[in-house]
Parts: sequence; structure tokens; C-alpha cells
Amino acid sequence: MLRTHTCGELRTDHIGQQATLCGWVDTYRDHSGILFVDLRDRYGKTQVVFSPQSGPQTLAVAKTLRAEYVIAVTGTVAARPEGTENRNLATGRIELRAEKLEVLNRSRTPPFQPGAKELPSEETRLRYRYLDLRRQPMQEAMLLRHRMIKLIRDYFDELGFVDVETPMLGRSTPEGARDYLVPSRVHPGTFFALPQSPQLYKQILMIAGYDRYVQVARCFRDEDLRADRQPEFTQLDLEMSFVQPGDVMDVIDGLMARLAGQLLGLELQLPLPRMTYDEAMQRYGHDAPDLRFGLELVDVTDVARECPFQVFRAAAESGGRVRGLNAKAAASRYSRKGIDELTQYVVEDFGAQGLAWFKVDAEGQLASPIAKNFEPGQLARMAQRFDARPGDLLLLVAGPWDLTCRALAGLRRRLGRELNLYDPKQMHFSWIVEFPMFAYDEQQGGWTAMHHPFTAPRPQDLPLLKDDPGKCRAQAYDLVINGVEAGGGTIRIHDTDLQQEVFRLLGIDAQRAQERFGFLLEALQYGAPPHGGIALGIDRLVMLFGRLDNIRDCIAFPKTQRATDLMTGAPSEVDVAQLKELGIRIDR
Ligand code: AMO
Repeated sequence: MLRTHTCGELRTDHIGQQATLCGWVDTYRDHSGILFVDLRDRYGKTQVVFSPQSGPQTLAVAKTLRAEYVIAVTGTVAARPEGTENRNLATGRIELRAEKLEVLNRSRTPPFQPGAKELPSEETRLRYRYLDLRRQPMQEAMLLRHRMIKLIRDYFDELGFVDVETPMLGRSTPEGARDYLVPSRVHPGTFFALPQSPQLYKQILMIAGYDRYVQVARCFRDEDLRADRQPEFTQLDLEMSFVQPGDVMDVIDGLMARLAGQLLGLELQLPLPRMTYDEAMQRYGHDAPDLRFGLELVDVTDVARECPFQVFRAAAESGGRVRGLNAKAAASRYSRKGIDELTQYVVEDFGAQGLAWFKVDAEGQLASPIAKNFEPGQLARMAQRFDARPGDLLLLVAGPWDLTCRALAGLRRRLGRELNLYDPKQMHFSWIVEFPMFAYDEQQGGWTAMHHPFTAPRPQDLPLLKDDPGKCRAQAYDLVINGVEAGGGTIRIHDTDLQQEVFRLLGIDAQRAQERFGFLLEALQYGAPPHGGIALGIDRLVMLFGRLDNIRDCIAFPKTQRATDLMTGAPSEVDVAQLKELGIRIDR
């Protein structure tokens, strides 16, 4: 080893000892001929002092040091002179008085200093990812990720799960995004699809009798990217035989308790709370509500139906809803201009027609430019429904159910943040269960799978498949942490006939079903056990546990919002010869 210790290791116990450290020059300061270098590696920083006692040659070389040079220094550990200790640094009571210095490698002037407080643009960070990864917050995220995956593997090993790898080169799976395709050279004109998830393989593993499967699996989805979405991401994927939804949730409850305990020192109360999808939509307008705060939706459609205010009445009479939020004590927080901004937000981001509002005055009366459109009794009923108190601000949206859900859920999230309704450090875990089996696609004019087409309906809802598919609820469960969908799973269909019926409902006719999923339909006929599972987004878990705002901050080499890699320049054009071999011509 070139070094005897790391840059985070030396303490007062080492005073008087010789040590050799290797690392990067974080900062260097010249104080009238004495050179102070903060030497950094991933374990910490140590102050190294070059003075005339280091010898003329060492001091001369030290003077050539620049930021990010890689060096090896040998010296004696000494106490820092009184008054110069740094209590914020683990090594802050000592320094290394240099005797020997070797420059292991020089560095060009870096485009940014990994140790600096201010961050460069994300583009620069991604372009020079190796410098960005030297930053302490990135190192902490990488270590958190490592520790989390280690805990996950240990946990599932203890529970008797078997880690099985599934292929990257496979057939298209139906998770609803576009596939990344890989052309086959051996069979020109044909393509593999990178897995959107190992869904079908894990079901086949259950049919194969593996009973409890787990994998830390890479998944690929060509979809619109957001702060919590990457085209290439990692799932904790698992599947179990002979289970009901509660069994899968129990396993994940235990995992969350372990991760929260070990990584955050948090004790979770188990079982984690469970709420149905219908209740979540009713109370929060969202299937992944942030439950760190209340601010529940209030429905006043019945009052709206009777009131003279045209916007409300029209919504109520056409089968829509009038719902709203009571931002407690927020009337003075939002001026007219502030309310205009909220209005613009619900109109532009969610397509609401507008935002109705009332401020509750000192007498408890609802005051608003639209108040004159209501009879006093109606205002009083609304005030009561919202539990309105002086100083409250009521915000209402009228329109179709879905729109009121979307707009108010967005508004709720925004108000929660703006009004500091929760401590950002707080963590809230819960389950949303019994999702609808199907969602109606207005554009295509047909049913689509809310989760995926292999999801089993609740047994009591089987008759609804024929009578009223929209009402049919699935044996489905999503894990929600702080308003982010951290995972989702279902009990699967293990019966070929039922699977075919669901395919039919989804507009996948027998021939297409056979083409795309024939192997699964066949396998289901060879003794498929009842089974179900779930997948959690590991990147999202690390983001949430690390209290990061962006999923890119816990992935070593992420893609940009436009699905490119700024460091390597991928995706890139390839040689014509390579294309020719694949039988591909670019048509541009
Ligand atoms: P689903 O599609 O819900 O289910 O994905 C499971 C979890 O994976 C994470 N996730 C993502 N994370 C980052 N970037 C993305 N683009 C992305 N897409 C999904 C989320 C999500 O909750 N096969 C099923 C699981 C099952 O039924 O067992 C599936 O993939 O955290």
C-alpha cells in the first residue's frame, strides 16, 4: 500500500506517529512560506503542513501543487497549535507535518472544485461526473445506496428468497412505456427489447417452483423523464408463491422497518398504514398522497348544485364535482397576487377553468368577489363543511372528478410546501391498496391496465369484469413514501382463461396475445401456483432516504432529462459498416 492511513483516520491518538496519506489536493494556502494543504479522499480531509522543516526539496515541490493533484505525503502527526483546531472536522485537532512528498499525478485546472460550496450547473457536473462524484454529498449518496442494497440482500436472504438473474435481451414486456430495442445481427430485421421490468420472467420462476424470488434488477423505459424518473433504473424486484396481498406487504413492511432503523435511526410502527385507492382519491385527490400533512379535500358538490353561481352549478349538474381545500390561517399569507399565482398554476398545469377562493373574515364569514353569488345559508354550509375559522383561506375547483383530483392534489402539494406544513426531514410510509383494474383511455377509446395486464382482480369483483370493468378493483398495492410512489405490485392471474379474458378486455385479441405472451399463456397451463409480488424503485428509495430532490443525485452515471449521457456522449452515431451488418439503414 502506498498509504498507511486514509485522510479521515488520524486523531490525537496518532500524535507523534509517522503516517503516509494519499489523496487529492482539496485546497492549498500559502502563509508566508508555510504551505497548508487540505488533502482529501473519500474518507475525509486532513491538513498537511509544508514548512522549512520539511526540507527545501519537499517545500519546493509542495509549491507546485494545485487543486486536484494526486499526492502521497509522509510526515509526523502533530497536534494543531492551540486556537487553530477545526471542531467541524473529524481530523480537525491534528495535522500532518510533511517530510516527504510525491506527486502521483497532476490535474488540469478543474472546471469546478469538488470541495467548493457553490455548485456548478448540472450540465457541468454530468459532463465531468468523476469530479462531481468526488463531492461529499455524492459520496454520501453512493454509500447510502451501497448500504441499502446490502441490507436488502441480507434481509431477503434471511427470509429464504433466491436471487435469480433474468435476461437483459428479451421480448418486449408490457409496463406501458416504449421499449429500448437492440437489433439482432444474427437475425437481421429482428430485435430484442431491454426489459422494462423482469415481470414475466419472475412469474415464470414461480411456475418453475422457485417460490420466493428476489433480484436487484436493471430496467429500461423510454418515457418522458422527470425528477424521479430515469430511462435506466434499478428495481428491487420480488415474487412469491401462495400469497395474498397482505403477505407481500408484510414482507415489505419488515424491509422498510429495517432500512429506516438501520439507515435513519427511525423506528417504524408496523404494519404500515393501508388506505384504499378510492379513499385516497376522495381525501387527497391522488393515488400517492403525501401524508406528512393533512390538508384534505372537501367536497361541496351538493351545496354547489343549489347555488346560483353558474360555474359551480354547471359542474355539479353535469356530473362533475366542486371540491376544495382549507389552507388554515393562510388568508394573510396569500395576497390577491399570490392567489392569482395559485390560479395560474391550476389553470396552466392541470387545465382547471379557474380557482374559486374565500377568505374567512374575523366574524367567520366567507369573503370573496364571488360571495355575492351565494345565498347566506349556502355560504354558511360551505364554511361548516370546510371547518372554516377566521383567517383561513378556502380554495375550490369545479369540474370533472379527475380534474378536481389532479388540480387539487397539485395545489395541496404546493401549499404543503409553501406553508411549511411538514418537516422536510420527516418520513411517512403507507400503502395504497385496491386500485382499479382498468383505466379508460379516452383517446384510444378502450380499457388499459392500471398496473399491468397480469394483475388479478379481487375475487369478489370477478363478475364486474363482464358487467362494469371500470368498477373492478385489483389485488394491487403501492408503497408510498412522502408522496412518491416507491413501489407497486399485485397478485397475478394464474389461470389461463382469466388471463385471456383480461387480455380481451384490454383489446388484445387472441392472436396478438399469442404472439406477444404465448409463452406465458402456455406456461400458465403447466401447474402455475397462485403468486404475486412487487417491485420497488431503488433509486427512488435512495433519493427519499437521502432526502435528495432528484433521482440523478443518487445514480453514479445518470442520464439527463433528455436521456443522454453527457460524459460519454451516448447515444451516438455508429459506423455505417456496423449498421450494414445489422441490416439497418438510417432514414433521415
Ligand atoms: P412499476 O412499473 O410500478 O411496476 O415499477 C415499480 C417501481 O419502479 C420504480 N420506477 C422507476 N424508477 C425510476 N425511473 C423510472 N423510469 C421508473 N419507473 C418505475 C417506481 C415504481 O414504483 N413489474 C411491476 C412490479 C410488479 O408488479 O411486481 C413494475 O415494474 O418506484
